[in-house]
Amino acid sequence: MNIILLGPPGAGKGTQAQRLVAQRGMVQLSTGDMLRAAVAAGTPVGLKAKAVMDAGELVSDAIVSALIGEHLDASAGKGAIFDGFPRTRHQAEALEILLAERGRSLDHVIELAVDEEALVERITGRFTCASCGAGYHDVFKLPKAEGRCDVCGGQDFKRRPDDNEQTVRTRLAEYRAKTAPILPFYEEKGLVRRVDGMASVEQVADAIDSILDG
Ligand code: AP5
Ligand code: MG
Repeated sequence: MNIILLGPPGAGKGTQAQRLVAQRGMVQLSTGDMLRAAVAAGTPVGLKAKAVMDAGELVSDAIVSALIGEHLDASAGKGAIFDGFPRTRHQAEALEILLAERGRSLDHVIELAVDEEALVERITGRFTCASCGAGYHDVFKLPKAEGRCDVCGGQDFKRRPDDNEQTVRTRLAEYRAKTAPILPFYEEKGLVRRVDGMASVEQVADAIDSILDG
């Protein structure tokens, strides 16, 4: 099964993708994570992407489509969760081709519908484990033991440089202008399933499970 998790910054794409990886053995393909890895490694792609990401704008279609192309085969036979990709009509078309070339196709586009004002609070409270990447939140999801990652026991945590209010506003505007308009492309194909992303993490997870198992 291949699915897209579609929603604005902070909608819960990464949170739900990590759970699907743990519970179903699917493979998370997050262009945001791939770009952050490229920035950390100082690759040519990372050097180009850093300033664009820090400003909250979109990296070029060519760069992100190439990244997905490089990582797609790792999900063969396991199922892909596209997280943060596609984000433009051009990327949606590139994904169609990449999948078709491999005899694969999309099963569902799961739209996480959320209230924009709540997203600023979600994003500015977010932090992750520096060792394994598990995601947390200052209010909604603290580690069970203070200062210790639930998954790997790590004691170092980090915050993203683009998780400040001003950049979040730009990321939301980019979503509205360039990403939300790809919904009709998938609606025409009958692939869109809408989930209430304002519900709790567990309720959102249950709603996604019923779509995947339905
Ligand atoms: P990317 O990394 O994709 O970031 P994003 O889309 O802005 O989304 P986020 O990761 O911020 O949110 P999320 O939906 O994953 O939420 P999360 O689960 O963490 O992209 C970053 C940048 O890279 C872009 O701005 C762009 O520059 C570039 N880029 C990436 N892909 C690109 C592409 N395809 N094309 C061009 N450029 C690209 O949840 C957020 C917080 O809320 C967490 O703390 C979580 O614990 C909490 N939370 C989650 N669900 C709930 C819930 N139901 N209730 C309460 N709290 C919740
Ligand atoms: Mg994410």
